[in-house]
Amino acid sequence: MGAEVAPDVGVAALYLEYAHRWFTGHSELYRQWAEGVAASETLPKLIAGLPVPKRQPNLVFAAARFHGCPDEPFPLLEKYLGTHWPAIRRIIMGHATQTNEAGRCATLLPALALVAEQERRPLALIEVGPSAGLCLLPDLYSYSYDGAPVLGTGSPLLRCATTGNPPIPRTLPEIAWRAGVDLNPLDGTDPDTVAWLRALVWPGQEARLEQLDAALATLAALKSGALKGVAGPPLLLAGDLNERVAELVAAAPKQAVPVVMHSAVLAYLDEARRSRFAQTIASVGCRWISNEAFFMDASNQTREGWDANHFTLALDRVPLARTGQHGAQLDWL
Ligand SMILES: C[S@@+](CC[C@H](N)C(=O)[O-])C[C@H]1O[C@@H](n2cnc3c(N)ncnc32)[C@H](O)[C@@H]1O
Repeated sequence: MGAEVAPDVGVAALYLEYAHRWFTGHSELYRQWAEGVAASETLPKLIAGLPVPKRQPNLVFAAARFHGCPDEPFPLLEKYLGTHWPAIRRIIMGHATQTNEAGRCATLLPALALVAEQERRPLALIEVGPSAGLCLLPDLYSYSYDGAPVLGTGSPLLRCATTGNPPIPRTLPEIAWRAGVDLNPLDGTDPDTVAWLRALVWPGQEARLEQLDAALATLAALKSGALKGVAGPPLLLAGDLNERVAELVAAAPKQAVPVVMHSAVLAYLDEARRSRFAQTIASVGCRWISNEAFFMDASNQTREGWDANHFTLALDRVPLARTGQHGAQLDWL
């Protein structure tokens, strides 16, 4: 084999790692695609032409599917990427993995309800890294924990299995205001953005796709003014969470308790920026709900949680639960 077609070892290893560590058990098609890329003579070389942060399989595969690549076995992906690479490359360069998972509201809800009960005031929700803001609508969805009767009347219905007897509220907490700051806030009513958010859901996870569609429909209804008697659509600012979170806390309505929350976001920050965020939160006067693969301790350092498939739900730095990444599991501590 000549140097021209020698597989890029770094890319091949990355795709193999994703195949085994992330895709196995979660998306059979992505597992096959990632293994196929790793063994391909041509694709690792194509992908190695991307900047390092853009090489990740979930971004490359989402871009291919967004462009129109069908969810078919690997030989088709190989052909498709080879044929349409310039256009797919542009999609990769112009997009990021901003997966927005409304299902996480099922694991955030008990923490939100605890704050509402302790503060006896409505909540001003401030999400850092909200993507399109779907986790800012917890009062507009409905919930069923362990198959119990449904809480709430909205859509989607989020189902969650629990252990440890979590404090499931009897009513949904009142949300007075919704806001967030994201490096790239998404408009969940824009058709192209909707197509991108859908492409980010891995093949084989159709229940998550239905949930996403229902949450986007709720967001659209809220934006159109069709939902009465609830807080309006999220105010989404563009910027870095460290630069703008204090401004949002200050802007929250005074009759509400500001709650800063985030899920699947702090992993994008290095330790110094996470630590700065934790210090800021301590100084602005708000409650703090974190749902990440780790949590921040009293000295503003990262403390590891469980494994790749679970987050730690923490309230004001105190771990409350181990949560499933997409909100379907809640193990109260
Ligand atoms: C994986 S998405 C999670 C979205 C949402 N929190 C959820 O759980 O569905 C991560 C989001 O964090 C945003 N993000 C990453 N780093 C950020 C930063 N420094 N400041 C603000 N937003 C950031 C990304 O743009 C992206 O929209």
